Amino acid sequence: MRGLLRVGEVALRVFDIDEAREHYGKRIGLIETYSGEPDTLYFKGADEHDWYSLVLRRADAPGIDYFAFKVYDDATLDHFEKELTDWGITVEHVEAGVYPKSGRRLQFLLPSGHTMQLYAHKEQIGNGMPTRNPGTIPDEGYIRGMRVVRLDHLLLGSNEIVANKEIFTKIFGFGVSEELISHEDETKLAIFLSCSTKPHDIAFVLQPEPNRFHHCSFLLDSVNDLYHAADLIGKYDIAVDISPNRHGVTRGATIYFFDPSGNRNEVFTGGYVYYPDNPTLVWDTTQLGRATFSHDNTPRESFLSVLT
Ligand SMILES: [Fe+2]
Repeated sequence: MRGLLRVGEVALRVFDIDEAREHYGKRIGLIETYSGEPDTLYFKGADEHDWYSLVLRRADAPGIDYFAFKVYDDATLDHFEKELTDWGITVEHVEAGVYPKSGRRLQFLLPSGHTMQLYAHKEQIGNGMPTRNPGTIPDEGYIRGMRVVRLDHLLLGSNEIVANKEIFTKIFGFGVSEELISHEDETKLAIFLSCSTKPHDIAFVLQPEPNRFHHCSFLLDSVNDLYHAADLIGKYDIAVDISPNRHGVTRGATIYFFDPSGNRNEVFTGGYVYYPDNPTLVWDTTQLGRATFSHDNTPRESFLSVLT
């Protein structure tokens, strides 16, 4: 794997820092790893090595500030700066250190209205285990909150998603693992893109407005942990969107819920292994229920219409 490696960072807006700390730290079980400005929080998943992957900023409206992919190395950054510029995209330089523990970044606006960044370096804090003879779990085990392993993927909404697909496939080399299309006119309603062996690293869903946030997803080890997460969601009255179910798209087992500011979160586990030579799987809207929630084959209005 070279080029873009993974979604290394997502930055969301929240109303209240203390509520966000309780939700993402205590309930989801992310680890708070850095304290900078008093209105910003930095978290990572238990098995992530880099210093942080989730940034939460206090603001008057929820939603997404930006997302950032980590790339393989510094030369890769230079390569993509040229490719993006040749495509006609304006690329800004963000100096090393502007973001804590981070090397230099490239920042640009996608046709979907989302701000995207690329970076090659972020300091590592580790995953609680040594790198020589590491063992298999940290000293206390994965006992925090929902036992989240790592930030896994994003789903973002916009009125322009096909132009994003062009950039992710033709410049960044992603594969299209799956698409959801209208059975009436073949309009692309959702596009699922992979740069790895995951069934998706990022996906875009057609919505009336640009720059919308549908959800960020955190990986769990097993469906046992998914059920444990569902128990915590009930116990602490966390606003749930979709109780445990399985997507047809990606075949991941899932729960959707909301943070106290209304941003949607997912915990998910499973899904198939994606290879770049996999054929693109296409679902049409005659099977919308099966594509989204395959335990009952019933589409959910809230899932399709509530974004921040
Ligand atoms: Fe997801």
